[in-house]
Amino acid sequence: MRAAIENLPASRIREVANAGIGRADVLAFWFGESDEPTPAFVRDAAAESLRQGETFYSHNLGLPELRAAIAAYASGLHRSIAAERIAVTSSGVNALMIAMQALAGAGDEVVVVVPVWPNLPAQPAILGAAVKRFALGVQGGAWTLDLDALLATVTRRTRVLLVNAPNNPTGWTLTRPEQQAILEHCRRTGTWIVADEVYERIWFGDGPAAPSFADIAEPDDRLVIAHSFSKSFLMTGWRLGWLAVPESLIPAIGKLIEFNTSCAPVFVQRGALAALAQADEFVPGLVERLRLCRDTLLPRLAGLPGVSVAVPQGGLYAFLRVAGEDDSLVFAKRLVAEAGLGLAPGSAFGDEAEGWLRWCFASRDPARLVQGVERLARGLGL
Ligand SMILES: Cc1ncc(COP(=O)(O)O)c(C=O)c1O
Repeated sequence: MRAAIENLPASRIREVANAGIGRADVLAFWFGESDEPTPAFVRDAAAESLRQGETFYSHNLGLPELRAAIAAYASGLHRSIAAERIAVTSSGVNALMIAMQALAGAGDEVVVVVPVWPNLPAQPAILGAAVKRFALGVQGGAWTLDLDALLATVTRRTRVLLVNAPNNPTGWTLTRPEQQAILEHCRRTGTWIVADEVYERIWFGDGPAAPSFADIAEPDDRLVIAHSFSKSFLMTGWRLGWLAVPESLIPAIGKLIEFNTSCAPVFVQRGALAALAQADEFVPGLVERLRLCRDTLLPRLAGLPGVSVAVPQGGLYAFLRVAGEDDSLVFAKRLVAEAGLGLAPGSAFGDEAEGWLRWCFASRDPARLVQGVERLARGLGL
């Protein structure tokens, strides 16, 4: 086996979850998804497609009507984008992998802003690229970006800058001026930006979406944006996402899709078409339900002695620290064993997040969150 693969760390979230296997009494908030199923109108569209016998291979880049619908949806949120710049992928994580396969290989330097969902730095590492981690800082319990330090790290040697905002796990987001500065800098250094914006609609600030590179970039900028149907449409199990890229990159992306998955399933794409057709009705309601979850959880966590947590502007997660608990894996396992509470250890997202815990607050029932906080309090001996 290649050393790069052997050296990949196993998921620490799974390690904690495995400790709770078979225990129905554990209240689990460790994975990044809601317990609310995909809306019925999306499921119905996919079921109808299957009934119609749409069970065949299809276009590498996605159904033309889905590419057009994604372009129209994205154009409603950001600068106008042509359908020819959209590639449909089999999940957000597949979109990110294909982007990385197109852009970085052995010896290339990839700068990744961390802490972050571990799949992001793993992908360039799998491809043999040299991964340079750039750490966010912490001020008053909130994660912050030292923009000048980031720009000093990204040089002409940097092939790709990989950044996820709104960020999993920290809840940190990029501001418009920061995006502008990063874009201008990367134009100068010739660096590609791979922006993971899968949480752009899970946004509690002003407007319908978090600040996006798609608001400011030109069509031919070296910019790839990765998206997913998982979060905004409660479609985690469907495995569908997309890439927005400069048109010149599309032939390469098409080839890579051919060699990875060949195409996304047609019935899944039919579900996505239904989701986009009702996005204006569905997404704002989802965000309001998630806002209620966030606003149920955060003040209760902040009210516990020794707990520090910042209110996230976007994403599905509260990222917290408990004074005196510096080994997050040990602490998370103890919370499962002794309090029946399932959280993700910060160290799953890199050494930079050691001592922190991630709590996914997406739930149909905010009362579960209240119960979870009671268990945390019990686990802390309060
Ligand atoms: C930051 C980030 N990017 C991408 C993804 C990929 O989402 P999916 O593969 O479900 O589309 C996730 C999923 O948790 C994520 O947290």
